[in-house]
Amino acid sequence: MDLGIKGKIAIVAASSKGIGLAAAKKLAEEGANVVICSRNEENLRIAETELKKVSIGEVLAIKCDVTQKADIESLVDKTVDHFGTVHILVNNAGGPPAGYFEDFDDDAWFKAFELNFMSAVRFIRKVLPLMKSQKWGRIINITSVTVKQPIDNLILSNSIRMAVVGLAKTLALQLAEYNITVNNIAPGYTLTSRVRSLVETRAKERGVEFEKIVEELVKEVPAKRMADPSEIGNAVAFLASEAAGYITGVTLFVDGGYVKATL
Ligand SMILES: NC(=O)c1ccc[n+]([C@@H]2O[C@H](COP(=O)([O-])OP(=O)(O)OC[C@H]3O[C@@H](n4cnc5c(N)ncnc54)[C@H](OP(=O)(O)O)[C@@H]3O)[C@@H](O)[C@H]2O)c1
Repeated sequence: MDLGIKGKIAIVAASSKGIGLAAAKKLAEEGANVVICSRNEENLRIAETELKKVSIGEVLAIKCDVTQKADIESLVDKTVDHFGTVHILVNNAGGPPAGYFEDFDDDAWFKAFELNFMSAVRFIRKVLPLMKSQKWGRIINITSVTVKQPIDNLILSNSIRMAVVGLAKTLALQLAEYNITVNNIAPGYTLTSRVRSLVETRAKERGVEFEKIVEELVKEVPAKRMADPSEIGNAVAFLASEAAGYITGVTLFVDGGYVKATL
């Protein structure tokens, strides 16, 4: 299927590693010009080099902390200076810390809100006038299975990502007439380098094989494995495509069947 995004301009937030990088790669392979960002300059340059190997279009790597309004505004300005506009926005960020209700004070809640909600609000606010005037836009938010099925020790994720889903649905309804779609992707366990090192640490602590820990984690996953980050990237590329132009306001679970709800 031709996804129809050759030459489009895509910003992928928080994308030097993991799901963000995998999404950037898929968009780049499909011919989009891709802007990646992260806080750590060294990791960002490594990602840029990796991306350029598979990219048909151009790659721009810009240092940015998505919790900082000024960084987001500057990144979008630099993108527009270089490419002229933005067609595709993938809102991604690091995950909030794990923990239970009693573990977090106001400051922790506000930090998670800024990281996983306000980053999306600020990126969307900045790109929306461009998308509206060109009557073409794709906004894709990376959330988590926690929006449908809470995970015990992830209260910040369980709570704050719901606001992203509410934001996306509201905007989807208001922006459809501009040919702008707004959707969420909800990944399940995904074997990014961060998850790999968590599994390695746990395996070392318990003196068991890597595979044993993975097996325990995916016990509730019907597919009996974690996703490869590229599988989340595939979903991003599809929702960003011309072919997905009539899909808006949905949350697409890419979770190997982990969430058991029927609807
Ligand atoms: N992996 C999973 O199993 C899974 C499942 C469900 C949901 N998710 C969610 O999906 C998102 C991505 O997860 P991941 O596993 O791909 O994470 P990851 O492997 O840790 O990668 C996170 C990426 O985001 C960047 N980043 C983090 N904080 C940032 C900030 N404040 N500003 C700019 N860039 C930032 C990191 O680079 P720098 O550190 O250099 O900034 C890195 O490139 C997270 O929100 C996570 O909770 C993950």
